[in-house]
Amino acid sequence: MAASDRSLTAEIFVPPKPTLTKLRVAAAGCTACPLHRTGTQTVFGAGARNAPIMLVGEQPGDQEDRAGEPFVGPAGRLLDKALLAAGIDRAQTYVTNVVKHFKWEPRGKRRIHSKPNVSEIRACRPWLDHEIALVRPQVLVCLGATAAQALLGKAFRVTQSRGRLVSSPLAPHALATVHPSSLLRAPDDETRRRELARFIDDLRVAALAIAEPTVSLH
Ligand code: URA
Ligand code: SF4
Repeated sequence: MAASDRSLTAEIFVPPKPTLTKLRVAAAGCTACPLHRTGTQTVFGAGARNAPIMLVGEQPGDQEDRAGEPFVGPAGRLLDKALLAAGIDRAQTYVTNVVKHFKWEPRGKRRIHSKPNVSEIRACRPWLDHEIALVRPQVLVCLGATAAQALLGKAFRVTQSRGRLVSSPLAPHALATVHPSSLLRAPDDETRRRELARFIDDLRVAALAIAEPTVSLH
């Protein structure tokens, strides 16, 4: 790959004075990395414009790629259920991904998720940075290692630090937890139940972080 290709990022597609709507429209035409060729469409973030909670996943999955909306497939349904259990209304959130195109490999007739690499993550980063700058969430929740390492640092270990508020220049509060799709891969019901409970506990930490200012009013 030529040096000029490595330095290409989505920033060149970012419109002047961006709004979320302008960004979404511009991102639909992004060709900053090779993933635009394999994905059906750009899956931009979605949700409340001033959401107190922003949830960041890795990349859209098969169903998101077809629908053009983040977290609408099996992992999204599990996320909705966990948010509800944690006392978070999905309407109060903004949901997005580190990478906006679905990366996949064929397996028979199915399209299997394939991990985005560092140059794809880097190329796509401007979209996420502009989303964060416009939504200005009170708490940034990283779902899984890809989001956690992209946003909280390469040395971040979800297994060690999940569910803990950490400092970040990106938002007043940040924390990481597992990706909901990891719960779908649990080997048995008992593990799945236990892991779902831990996931909900981690999301409760985010709910409490945004509840803090109102507590001081009493
Ligand atoms: N997994 C993600 O990380 N994001 C989605 O939007 C769907 C599944
Ligand atoms: Fe652009 Fe991101 Fe899609 Fe790559 S994955 S083409 S950087 S929107």
